Amino acid sequence: MSIDLLREPLRNRGTAFTTEERERLGVAGLLPPRVETIDEQVARVLANLRGKASPLEKYVYLSGIQDANETLYYRTLIDHLEETVPTVYTPTVGEACLRWSCIYQRPRGLYVSARERGRIGAVLANWPRDEVAIIVVTDGGRILDLGDLGANGMGIPIGKLALYVACAGIDPARCLPVLLDAGTDNAAVRGDPLYLGLRAARLAGAEYDAFVEEFVAATQARFPGVLVQFEDFANANAFRLLARYRERLRCFNDDIQGTGAMGLAGLYAALRITGGRLAEQRLLFFGAGEANIGIGTLVAAALGREGLTLAQARERCWFFDSQGLVTRDRHALAEHKRTFAQDHAPVAGLLEAVEAVRPTALIGASGQPGAFSAPVLAAMARLNARPIVFALSNPTAKAECTAAEAYRAAGGRAIFASGSPFPPVELDGRSHHTGQGNNAFVFPGIGLGVLATGCTRVTDEMYFAAADALAAQVGAQDLACGRIFPPAARLREVALAVATAVAEAGYAKGIAAVPRPPDLAAHIRQGMYAAAY
Ligand code: NAI
Repeated sequence: MSIDLLREPLRNRGTAFTTEERERLGVAGLLPPRVETIDEQVARVLANLRGKASPLEKYVYLSGIQDANETLYYRTLIDHLEETVPTVYTPTVGEACLRWSCIYQRPRGLYVSARERGRIGAVLANWPRDEVAIIVVTDGGRILDLGDLGANGMGIPIGKLALYVACAGIDPARCLPVLLDAGTDNAAVRGDPLYLGLRAARLAGAEYDAFVEEFVAATQARFPGVLVQFEDFANANAFRLLARYRERLRCFNDDIQGTGAMGLAGLYAALRITGGRLAEQRLLFFGAGEANIGIGTLVAAALGREGLTLAQARERCWFFDSQGLVTRDRHALAEHKRTFAQDHAPVAGLLEAVEAVRPTALIGASGQPGAFSAPVLAAMARLNARPIVFALSNPTAKAECTAAEAYRAAGGRAIFASGSPFPPVELDGRSHHTGQGNNAFVFPGIGLGVLATGCTRVTDEMYFAAADALAAQVGAQDLACGRIFPPAARLREVALAVATAVAEAGYAKGIAAVPRPPDLAAHIRQGMYAAAY
């Protein structure tokens, strides 16, 4: 039926269907008479959006637009990235996940639950499009820093893919968000009468691995060569799954590898202000999970490029977790922490660790708000002319310190970045603009570069390339106001630059399937979805 066209978000143009199209497609009279341009439609969306009282209402409203007319949704995002990204992505997506069971209205993406074990291929066959090129999948195990949210985690793959489309110009028809419902150990979530996921304990051990394996195999059978991005898996699973699949298929773990590139880029940009070399830094990582181990691993590899041995490089990277400084004498250290364990006496408190390590940079990815206390920040300010402080935990309420706390403690000398956005801080007549240290600056470009060139794997070199390209996108004007990441408004340009660098890395490694075009950036740009009718 013709009215079905108006209910299909990828094809619907709503009031932008011309009179001739309305006649031809049999939708005349099903729309109000006025024919609008997409810009007029965007103006209406913005007027409504700005009238919403809360961030969650904005999220729900924009989701409604996405379900009605994806071209309009993406046009709005692309033209207003700075305004809309905090709604469709962090921080508001965190609140959306917490309230998912309540705000759920229409299906989007695939829910693959443990109940479907043995026939996951048939579930994937239900997806109506064959052209899927990228899957973002979570099992809801560690959603931002909100813990195990089970099936409520679906907001994350949807949000990440919205950025793939808006920032990297991946065609929305090629994107598939997936929630792997392995159960949840969160009693509050399971006990919520509105909860939409399986009310069962999380699968663990071999059963869990077999579930993921069946899913991964089914993705490759249904969509051969599809790029799989693992997102917000708890760290007990994330490192193992990455190790298992990274050589087998086109995949990456954004929390580990994407964050690694973002963190390294942030450090390179910060060093353009402080003037030092990476090899001269001492880094203290607060939190030794996926995010910080990802950054530490890439930093250590980058130090290798500067001529340090791996052992020397790791000596520059100190980690502090819930048990204190990560030292060799600690028992039962998880594998991913062991390589960074230092020969040092135990240190239980962060302030003591700062005094002992004397770091030039303090990098938080721990989900512990307030952990960078006034004395910790004051010590960083005393030890460094320009202390580098990253509070990367998401959403905003989980940041290790606020922007204002970081700048005030150092009399405005801090070089600060945070995972979720903070407004500018006025201090002593100066305006300090915080850079958003978020892997949104990395993963869209990684996906775009890999897909545009048909690279068969996502390699470590691509993350170096992404870090260098992102750091190069930070302009003198950004640095002048203290910002070491580009503003969100430039996410699309950044994605193209990262994609081009990633593609170059793929050609250098000989893993690209598409013959190298003479102008790589132009080739990638011309393939980007533009959200136009
Ligand atoms: P994770 O669960 O793998 O690691 C958390 C780490 O924090 C663990 O090492 C844990 O021991 C440590 N920790 C917990 N309590 C602590 C305490 N009281 N003192 C010291 N350490 C403590 O989590 P993951 O994936 O590393 O994420 C951590 C945070 O980083 C989350 O808030 C996440 O949203 C954020 N993140 C931000 C990204 C960005 O782009 N800005 C990207 C990825 C993660």
